[in-house]
Order: sequence, then C-alpha cells, then structure tokens
Amino acid sequence: MTSLTITRPDDWHLHLRDGDMLKAVLPETARHFGRAIIMPNLVPPVVTARDAAEYRDRIMAAKPDNSKFQPLMTLYLTEETDVRDLRAAAEIGLIHAVKLYPAGATTNSASGVKDFTKVKRVLENMAQIGLPLCVHGEVTDPDVDIFDREAVFIDTILDPLRRDIPGLRVVMEHITTKQGADYAREGGDDLAATITTHHLVINRNHILAGGIKPHYYCLPVAKREEHRLALRAAATSGDPSFFLGTDSAPHTDANKLLPCGCAGCFTATNTMSILAEVFEQDDALDKLEGFASLNGPKFYRMEPNADTITLTKGNPVTYPDHIATDQGPVTVFDPQMPLHWRVT
Ligand code: NCD
Ligand code: ZN
Repeated sequence: MTSLTITRPDDWHLHLRDGDMLKAVLPETARHFGRAIIMPNLVPPVVTARDAAEYRDRIMAAKPDNSKFQPLMTLYLTEETDVRDLRAAAEIGLIHAVKLYPAGATTNSASGVKDFTKVKRVLENMAQIGLPLCVHGEVTDPDVDIFDREAVFIDTILDPLRRDIPGLRVVMEHITTKQGADYAREGGDDLAATITTHHLVINRNHILAGGIKPHYYCLPVAKREEHRLALRAAATSGDPSFFLGTDSAPHTDANKLLPCGCAGCFTATNTMSILAEVFEQDDALDKLEGFASLNGPKFYRMEPNADTITLTKGNPVTYPDHIATDQGPVTVFDPQMPLHWRVT
C-alpha cells in the first residue's frame, strides 16, 4: 500500500500554552488535525467557564487563516470548582471534558486535587450529564517509585473512584503501562484511554541509556519495553477503548535542558507520519483510522470529521529538528527511525 486516505484525525490531549508559544505551536496541530482537547494547565489554570471562553477566543485568534481547526475546551478541576459554573459551561457546549491532575503530578499541577472527597459532588454531577473526566493517572506519593505511579494510581485511586461514582465517564490520559491498557480494555463503555505517539516509540532506555536525553523525558515517564509493546498492541488492536491523545507538550530547549528540566515531548509536527510508520510496522495500517479519527469522537459522542487526509508512502520524509518560537526553539520529537509516510 502506498496511499491511505482516512477521516481527518483529532488529538484528544494537547497542550497549546498561550501567547507567543500558542501562536508558534498551533499551526503544527491545525495542519493535520480537525479538533483537539485542549489541556487547561496554564499558569494560572483554566478553572472557570469564563477562563475557558477567553482561552478559546485566544486560540481562535491565533489560528492560521483558513484553518477549520476547532479547539475543544476543558476545565481544570480544583477542590473549589463550582458545580453550577461547570454544568452551565457543559450545557452550552463550551467545555467537552474536565481535567483531573493529582496535585503535584506534573507540569503546572499545583492547583490540582489533594483530597478526593472534596470533588465528589462535582464528579457526581459530571456522571449525571455524561461529561468526561480526563485523568492524569499517577500518584504523587514520594514513597512510590516513579515507574510504579500509574499502576498504583489505578489500584488505589481510579478503581475506588469509579466504584464510588457509577456512571462517571473517564478517559485515562496518556497511559504508559500494560496495567493501564488492561484496565482500560476491561472497563466498559464509560472508560477509555488515550495513548501518545511517543509512548508507542520510546521506552525508558531511550531516556536513560548512553547519556541522559531530556527531550524524551515526559510525564508519565516512559516505562520498560514490555509496556511499550502492550501500548502498541492496544493502539493497533482496533479496540475502541483506545484513541490518540498526543500530549504534545512544548517547552523551549532552554527549559528542557536544565539541571531540573521540564517534562514534555513535542510531537504535533510529525505525529501522523510516525503513527503511519508504527501501524505499518505492526501490519495494522487498516486500524490507524480507528485510533486517530474514529474511536475518540465515538467516546466523546461527537461525529467524526467530515473531511479526510491522505498519507502517501515514498522516500523518507524529513521534519525540522525544532520549531522557532519567540521564546526560543522547541525541539520536535525525534523518533529515531526513517519516516516514509507524509500527509499530502
Ligand atoms: C505536560 C506539560 O508539559 O504540560 N507534560 C508532560 O510531560 N506530559 C503535562 C502533562 O500532561 O503531564
Ligand atoms: Zn498532557
């Protein structure tokens, strides 16, 4: 096969930031993707309906001319989240999900949830109206090894929470483990998981062996090879529980290459080429459309995009090493393999 036409994909987990960075990174996503779930972890975070409406307007203003890209806004769940404000934002279609960060789990998560009893009423209301909760699934307990934090979160927080609030619709964001994939697969219609591009490609050796590679450091951190293979099997299986959320998370090189550098891989630019390569390697090109374009809208109860993109196979395609922003260069994720599929 040398040409593949699929429904235009969506990105169900994306960091666009704000200001100059937003202007620089948005075209990279808008080029191929129809819609994206926009993460609310700005500083300060997007907490109220008004914050979300204003952020949406800034994104719309930063969009390239003629782009039909649609941002799907989210609210950042805090212990002070106002139920009425949230319900009103969902009812008018302003927000499509609410994001749960355990306090301190990742970049800009200080306002996240410490005490889950404090958000129970909000979550019950979300279950009533079917509004998905996007979960950063890692415990923050310093006594738990960072490579175990996802598996421990599933057992000690996520599973009890789902039992406590029946009907709550949950997206396990950017799963990185076999345990995550197994739990999502068996969780029924109210549970799904996003998988990033980079976690299909790298394992923890890519970060740590032969010198430390800050550009491969993201959260949740990449795990052992057996976990990467479990994610590949999940993504390429066609199971509607799994769909693409790139977690493309731009940080300038200056902020990545520090003694205490930021977490995040920037994959917006080359994601579709990488995914086509990965799915072809696993003899699953026929499953790419489900993963990138169909399973996400199905879970979010939206129509798939009406138009298509075409991927064409040929000589290896190259992408820039970095994109320029007014704050400095942002390195584009290097998959360390030739990419033969380009979006034409
Ligand atoms: C994200 C970011 O930079 O905002 N970083 C990351 O490593 N993925 C935050 C997140 O999604 O955890
Ligand atoms: Zn993220």
